[in-house]
Amino acid sequence: MFEVDYVPAVQPLFNVRLCINRRLNTDNLPNCAGRGSRELADRLEKQIIAEGLPTKVIRGPCMNNCAIGPNIKIQAGDMLNLNSDVSDERLEAVMVSIRAEVKKRQTAAGADVAP
Ligand code: FES
Repeated sequence: MFEVDYVPAVQPLFNVRLCINRRLNTDNLPNCAGRGSRELADRLEKQIIAEGLPTKVIRGPCMNNCAIGPNIKIQAGDMLNLNSDVSDERLEAVMVSIRAEVKKRQTAAGADVAP
């Protein structure tokens, strides 16, 4: 028998998809990675883990909204176009949307919701 602390995996209720596409940019079109989406994905993921939220960050391909990216899609929820703003204030606004989605889904599932 093993003597280890058992930590159950948190099953994500939904995914948060973030475009991390980087263009070769031979045509000088904007792209999300060029506007900091890869670093943003790391920051977002750290915050979600720190708060213990049951969601998962998915780094994905282009969403065809390149001119207003970085773009974030909450699964079956908000579409957030950051329009080059990857500041801490904008990240907090994204977290507000994610927290609201978690609360909505936990309420719908009849789970206990923290006050
Ligand atoms: S590069 Fe991100 S939406 Fe196109």
